[in-house]
Amino acid sequence: MDNQLILRAPAIEDGPRLFDLIQRSPPLELNSPYAYLLIADHFSATTVIAERGGRLIGCVTSYRRPDRPETLFIWQVAVAPGERGQGLAKQMLDALIRRRPPAWVETTISASNHASLRMFRTWAEQRRYPLQHAIGYAADLFGHQPHEEEVLYRFGPLIHQETTA
Ligand SMILES: CC(C)(COP(=O)(O)OP(=O)(O)OC[C@H]1O[C@@H](n2cnc3c(N)ncnc32)[C@H](O)[C@@H]1OP(=O)(O)O)[C@@H](O)C(=O)NCCC(=O)NCCS
Repeated sequence: MDNQLILRAPAIEDGPRLFDLIQRSPPLELNSPYAYLLIADHFSATTVIAERGGRLIGCVTSYRRPDRPETLFIWQVAVAPGERGQGLAKQMLDALIRRRPPAWVETTISASNHASLRMFRTWAEQRRYPLQHAIGYAADLFGHQPHEEEVLYRFGPLIHQETTA
């Protein structure tokens, strides 16, 4: 089996595979199969999937904020358990940014997700993307559903800065 890493935009048929990967990636919140179908279809241009030997081993889902299209909002990042710690998450983020460079990158991270925080921090530091904290989503905004606060991280401006692999 060809073991080469492939990074590409998803096709509609990848929707169920995205659902399966996120299901295997706690603490990420699993959304409906329909939501992942929409991501693979409507948001394909701002989604990266990573495959090796035909297996889906990672993904970054994102979208351009409708109110601020120069901002790319990263929604979910997942790497299959056996593939972590090898720089794949950062590689997928770089691939996404190269595709159509945004001026700003935003994401929210729950305070207890140290792996995610570390990944985003080192990714931005190594590429000299300035980090600005902004107001995210307080726990009480999630209504009756228990949910940790989501802290908003805003990186940028990214324009005219070189990305490194
Ligand atoms: C977070 C996640 C995407 C990182 O993927 P990855 O491919 O292993 O990340 P990278 O190899 O690019 O590592 C990036 C940095 O994060 C660090 N890191 C990765 N996992 C870590 C962990 N569990 N605890 C602390 N730091 C961690 C790495 O050491 C690395 O730091 P370095 O550059 O200083 O060496 C992956 O662990 C994952 O899928 N977790 C479950 C889902 C999740 O929490 N997603 C993030 C929400 S957006």
